[in-house]
Amino acid sequence: MTDRISINLLEWYDLNARSLPWRISPMDGKEGVIADPYQVWLSEIMLQQTQVVTVQSYFLKFIKKWPNVMALAKADTEDVMKAWAGLGYYSRARNLKRCAEIIAFELNGIFPQQASELKSLPGIGDYTSAAIGAIAFGEKIAVMDGNVERVFARLFRISDQLPAAKKPIFEKLNATFCTERPGDFAQACMDLGATLCTPKKPNCMICPLTQECQARAEGDMESYPVRAPKRKKPTRKGAAFVIEREDGAIFLQKRPDSGLLGGMSIVPTTNWNSNQDGETGNQAGPIELSWEQRGEIRHTFTHFHLELEVWFGRSDAVTENGWWSQRNVLAEEALPGLMKKVLEQAIPGCTQPKNLG
Ligand code: ADE
Repeated sequence: MTDRISINLLEWYDLNARSLPWRISPMDGKEGVIADPYQVWLSEIMLQQTQVVTVQSYFLKFIKKWPNVMALAKADTEDVMKAWAGLGYYSRARNLKRCAEIIAFELNGIFPQQASELKSLPGIGDYTSAAIGAIAFGEKIAVMDGNVERVFARLFRISDQLPAAKKPIFEKLNATFCTERPGDFAQACMDLGATLCTPKKPNCMICPLTQECQARAEGDMESYPVRAPKRKKPTRKGAAFVIEREDGAIFLQKRPDSGLLGGMSIVPTTNWNSNQDGETGNQAGPIELSWEQRGEIRHTFTHFHLELEVWFGRSDAVTENGWWSQRNVLAEEALPGLMKKVLEQAIPGCTQPKNLG
């Protein structure tokens, strides 16, 4: 039966593979076209916590700016952070840069070809090392991400709860994956999970694995993989302060390199985090000003919601621990999504790219 799974899945993939900018189509793969390890690595790092639809434009921007690992290694870290802004989980961008430097300057620009070696590089863990090994180098290794977990938990109706279920799911995957086409098999599972074997209302009618799927046979597909009941996310509060200079420049600061929004550019805020509220009200502002409240924004992080009051004021007094960002370059700052919301709330349109033509 495991053979049938592999055969049916790859036949389906040959006809239905999503066309993605980093991907070698199954047809080209069969003709001997091989993937560029730099592009596979870059895409897999971007895809670690971010959806395919969001990643595509970032991926294209990166390979246009930095077409190979040497170019990325030589880039200014701040420019890389700016290009990454909006993708979230910013430690990934710093690891990406460090990893590029190691490959370019210490490994003669050559990516290690095996998962076991790739894993020692910054930002590359179990999943990513296996994905790069299989997709870029044809290593005979099983690749398990969230989509693959769901597909296999359903196929074999694995009743353990995640994360304990990962082990039996991986064992089934390991016994099933196609060692002739490990990269295509992995991406076929990902595409199936993303397009048909979706978390809610899977489209079993046209799934190539319907006959083999044990959950389908019982009609309880949506129960797999089994998860612990979701904890409700807390809502934290705080305040953000947008300060505009007479010439329209905005005062920005840099977050510490580690932690939430690490290394990104922000306007001054009170000291909120996932465990505590920050101060609210204009008396919590970084300087005394005649502050004007410009509403509130709400943002959701992985473990909490955040509600920030947005205060606006005019001054040219604050210059410590930060810098003035001119209006025409504000869009190019390393502003995380949260800060774009804050700035847009205070001054609509101010983070839109300016045509400097
Ligand atoms: N998610 C992570 N890596 C992927 C890939 N190579 N193709 C599609 N979805 C993915």
